[in-house]
Amino acid sequence: MNHTERLPRNRTYLMCPPQHFTVEYAINPWMDTTVAVDTTLALTQWEQLRTTLTDLGHVVHVLDPEPGLPDMVYSANGAFSVDGTVYGARFLYPQRAAEAIAHRAFYLAAEHRFVEPEHVNEGEGDFAYLPAAHGGIVLAGYGFRTSPAAHAEAQEALGRPVVSLKLVDPAFYHLDTALAALDDRHVTYYPGAFSPASQRVLAQLFPDAVLADRADAEAFGLNLVSDGRHVILNTEAIAMGEKVRAAGYLPVHVELSELKRGGGSVKCAVAELRL
Ligand code: ARG
Repeated sequence: MNHTERLPRNRTYLMCPPQHFTVEYAINPWMDTTVAVDTTLALTQWEQLRTTLTDLGHVVHVLDPEPGLPDMVYSANGAFSVDGTVYGARFLYPQRAAEAIAHRAFYLAAEHRFVEPEHVNEGEGDFAYLPAAHGGIVLAGYGFRTSPAAHAEAQEALGRPVVSLKLVDPAFYHLDTALAALDDRHVTYYPGAFSPASQRVLAQLFPDAVLADRADAEAFGLNLVSDGRHVILNTEAIAMGEKVRAAGYLPVHVELSELKRGGGSVKCAVAELRL
């Protein structure tokens, strides 16, 4: 990767406080229903993440949390927006289905162009957008949650090429646990989370990617949010922080241990609005 100066761009995000966060069902290998969640600690950590983003100059909208939707804190799953169009989510598991309704209401209230999905897809959990790579492409994961049919649907809704990538490791069940955009054209990913063919596709599209290893992915180091310069990652992902620093970015670590109990970290808790 060419080490020119990494410039930040102001972003708009959507977050939802973990007021009702618990682990009462297990829909990914990280969730253990026998270990109690410290909701107060989760809220404190979430607040620090939000302040970190606003202190960097970004706008953070807040979605009202709803009782009975313990995973709502993972706001990245609620939709995927590109160039002012919002492609809505449709959750695989019934426990999370109602979250899509709350997200849709948020976008409709602000009168954004909203496309209702027919196919299962978990928003930014499985979709990433690189505005300056190959003229603007969407990367999309499938294998655990989002269906390949939703990739085609997203391409029609958004008018951008969608590249389908197959996830093969249940520990990394959403694309955003295995790959992240570092800026408008560069990505970082853990190759082992993808099928051999999808690894070849990634290597062809992003020959200069920052490659992460399994330990980075297990520390949720790829579940990061970047503004093009500052890369927000959790405190466990120290090695990943050093990798992005070596590539010219500035790692900013936040403590997010409670959210890991639900199988998520920084990126899962932050949806980027491209409106
Ligand atoms: N417990 C949630 C689930 O399994 C975690 C979602 C994590 N979000 C993400 N964007 N990876 O659905």
